[in-house]
Amino acid sequence: MGSIADFQPGGAATLTRPDPMLPRPFRVHRVHQDTRDTYTLELEPTDGAPLAWLPGQFTMLHAFGVGEAPISISGDPSRPDRIEHTIRNVGSVTAALVTAGPGTVLGVRGPFGTGWDVGTGRGGDVVVVAGGIGLAPLRPAILELIAHRADYDRVVLLYGARTPEDILFTDDLRAWAERDGIIVEVTVDNGQHAWRGRVGFVTQLVTRAGFDAVRALGLICGPEVMMRYAAQALSDRGVRPERLRLSMERNMKCGVGLCGHCQLRELFLCVDGPVLGYDQLAPLMSRAEL
Ligand SMILES: Cc1cc2nc3c(=O)[nH]c(=O)nc-3n(C[C@H](O)[C@H](O)[C@H](O)COP(=O)(O)OP(=O)(O)OC[C@H]3O[C@@H](n4cnc5c(N)ncnc54)[C@H](O)[C@@H]3O)c2cc1C
Ligand code: FES
Repeated sequence: MGSIADFQPGGAATLTRPDPMLPRPFRVHRVHQDTRDTYTLELEPTDGAPLAWLPGQFTMLHAFGVGEAPISISGDPSRPDRIEHTIRNVGSVTAALVTAGPGTVLGVRGPFGTGWDVGTGRGGDVVVVAGGIGLAPLRPAILELIAHRADYDRVVLLYGARTPEDILFTDDLRAWAERDGIIVEVTVDNGQHAWRGRVGFVTQLVTRAGFDAVRALGLICGPEVMMRYAAQALSDRGVRPERLRLSMERNMKCGVGLCGHCQLRELFLCVDGPVLGYDQLAPLMSRAEL
């Protein structure tokens, strides 16, 4: 793997660090189909060196010969030896990633960006609001909460999917509710006859959910319009804007603050985000993507 040297003014090389633009080879260990268009890939570093990362961070996943895409890490933060990404097939790069079978070597740059900083919710309630594929970047935060469950009061997960067939991590959702002490509420936009659960937008769950807003930490990920309404609804319930965190997953190319693709006024979302406080984001969220 390549490296770049850091030089002191005198010119002597003092240390080397990995070049953030060079993908590191990872081998696909396992692929799990979550829904008709979404797959979770488990990747292992070919050199065996673990990749430390924080819940909420993303990598640039490289399908050689096709291109690369920013994808959040969706696995267990206590397993740096095996990283998971949950990917919806929407275009050329994601199609190449989800069809990469076991043994395929993919490139990984990163991890990049800010994390959920779950630990700041200790001693209070945590409300997690996810829409669609937005549950994937939140899964590591939920696994961290479960690993330290006694440090938190109520943990509430409010999850909305388009249809019952689009619900991600169904086994996890069941285990989190039945085994791990998480209050899990799921709703779908469109339910067919066989669906016995709730129908409606996830934002409607926010108004009914039981939590102590004054001491709550809110974590939100999903389509931007859903995040805007969810943040407003949590804020209306009394959660302080600086205790509300959203993941802004806009267009990204370099991932390291160089190209400007992700710029939102003074913010470079790849380094200042993707996870940012609602106190910072509220005035910016209505701006069109640059
Ligand atoms: C920080 C970050 C984290 C992300 N995490 C995940 C993840 O965990 N799982 C996942 O499936 N996807 C994630 N995405 C979105 C993913 O990067 C895009 O879907 C991917 O780049 C599309 O590339 P493509 O070549 O397959 O499709 P393209 O041909 O480039 O695009 C296909 C369609 O997807 C839309 N699209 C492209 N980029 C985005 C985006 N950033 N957000 C929403 N729509 C987009 C395009 O407008 C187009 O309609 C993340 C994006 C960011 C910025
Ligand atoms: S993606 Fe290049 S500056 Fe953020």
